[in-house]
Amino acid sequence: MELDEAGPTEWTAREEVGVGPWQGPWPDDERYDPELLANGDRRNVVDAYRYWRREAIVADVDTRRHPFHVAIENFQHDHNIGTVVRTANAFAAAAVHIVGRRRWNRRGAMVTDRYQHLEHHPDVASLTAFAAGRGLAVVAVDNTPGSVPVETAELPRECVLLFGQEGPGLSAEAQEAASLVVSIAQFGTTRSINAGVAAGIVMHAWIRQHADLSRSW
Ligand SMILES: C[S@@+](CC[C@H](N)C(=O)[O-])C[C@H]1O[C@@H](n2cnc3c(N)ncnc32)[C@H](O)[C@@H]1O
Repeated sequence: MELDEAGPTEWTAREEVGVGPWQGPWPDDERYDPELLANGDRRNVVDAYRYWRREAIVADVDTRRHPFHVAIENFQHDHNIGTVVRTANAFAAAAVHIVGRRRWNRRGAMVTDRYQHLEHHPDVASLTAFAAGRGLAVVAVDNTPGSVPVETAELPRECVLLFGQEGPGLSAEAQEAASLVVSIAQFGTTRSINAGVAAGIVMHAWIRQHADLSRSW
């Protein structure tokens, strides 16, 4: 079965993924989904969320999301957004912001967009207004002149990590809006790395500095 056909049980219908129908008396808890209890839960979720309704899972993650947001420019249909969403979900980011075009290819998200808050901003000004309203520092990520190495930079706890797209990189507006620009040290021959990979590295830098690791799965 193709991923796109996976439907409500997500991913694939392979029997070995997840758990089968609930055995014994059903739990009396509205977080559980009767359909999943009856048919089994084949979704790609951690065991703690087996048989839970999607809304219940999102509500639970909301109680412990990290105060960093992730934003990516999408003026040319960047194909890395799905990867960014998937990683943001894994690290319990507060939200992912798509700046520019509303449409993006969801395949790389591997259904994690169902559990991640997503917001759209038509332009960088809209994103920076959102950040200012929430008291979030805008941290741009690109290897532009004046950027500081993320390996040694202190990342603000409440922030928006703002990434550029393949090809043009960060727009001039995005660089001007940032209070800090960080770059990832490279040692090879290429000018830059994939934006989705860069997003994972910088999100993890935030995790190393600010997350409570005793609360990870
Ligand atoms: C493929 S890069 C393109 C632009 C890049 N400035 C260049 O010189 O080619 C796309 C995005 O990935 C991120 N990125 C890639 N390599 C990076 C690096 N070494 N340091 C920081 N960000 C990087 C940035 O957000 C960047 O806007």
